[in-house]
Amino acid sequence: MTNENVVLSGMRATGRIHLGNYFGAVKNWVELQDRYRCFYFIADWHALTTDYAEPKQIGDNSLEMLADLLASGLDPERSVIFVQSLVPEHAELHLLLSMITPLGWLERVPTYKEQIKELSNKDLFTYGFLGYPVLQTADILLYRAQFVPVGEDQASHLELSREIGRRFNSYFGDIFPEPKALFTPTPKVPGLDGRKMSKSYGNTINLSDSPEEVTAKCREMFTDPERIRRTDVGHPETCNLFQFHRLFSSAELQEKVAGECRRAQIGCVDDKRLIADQINEFLAPIRARRQDLLKNRDVLLDILSAGSRKAAERAGETMDEVRSALSINYRKVGEESR
Ligand code: TRP
Repeated sequence: MTNENVVLSGMRATGRIHLGNYFGAVKNWVELQDRYRCFYFIADWHALTTDYAEPKQIGDNSLEMLADLLASGLDPERSVIFVQSLVPEHAELHLLLSMITPLGWLERVPTYKEQIKELSNKDLFTYGFLGYPVLQTADILLYRAQFVPVGEDQASHLELSREIGRRFNSYFGDIFPEPKALFTPTPKVPGLDGRKMSKSYGNTINLSDSPEEVTAKCREMFTDPERIRRTDVGHPETCNLFQFHRLFSSAELQEKVAGECRRAQIGCVDDKRLIADQINEFLAPIRARRQDLLKNRDVLLDILSAGSRKAAERAGETMDEVRSALSINYRKVGEESR
């Protein structure tokens, strides 16, 4: 079995991909494709852990998300791109890992209590939600991934994955390598309101937004709170809008806008129009590709099914070893693992 450097990451199918996801994850995923054997998946089961009461959107989200990912540059020829629920080995490994995972470890994961508080409109006192990081661990260990590109918010999950892997190895032999987090080297993308861009805050700009939507959203963007009148001078270094210039505007334009803002030569209203144009220019090719991809959903389904078949191949190899290690392997030698 080959153990070249495997990268794995996943994204919950809870909505459209926004600029925070793009700069915080997807852009990095695209770049890693040239250097590693990459597995990227849409975590539809993970979406169910929080959205089980209203699952209607999940299937649709998964396909839209696939279109977003492909339009951003993920390439099914170079990476294995799949959907979690089409590779049921994730569930099998999750079950087996749950046997050895102490409850206390799960209750102590900081995101657990935080999320229950933050998403107080949802009842998250379920077995599935407590087990979320075990499912995530199964996602990673199933492919014996060495590297997991994620945002800093996932650090505690990765730590737990390493601990569960170690515990498994100590009981049953050396099967899983230690997965390391590859934290994305980009700054946090602020939302329209200056908090972190996040779907749950309703402050996102999505890859799928139309030019008009982007312009309207930029009009609502928070700017420098100390600049109240048009004649007041601005402070680009602390202005939320200027963070977007850093991501989307050329060095020349950044310098020009910053200078004009500091001298009160450009007003926030004009600046909002300007940044909307910059963002729209960046999004135009992505938008065109995703619209094209979504014209034929069967092609998208084919991509998922082909990717999931490739994923299942590696997953099957791992499970074969795992079942043997647990003394529950009833397949004859050489027999297909499924
Ligand atoms: N929990 C991750 C998030 O919310 C998504 C995820 C699920 C994931 N399974 C994973 C990320 C496996 C990396 C590896 O962003």
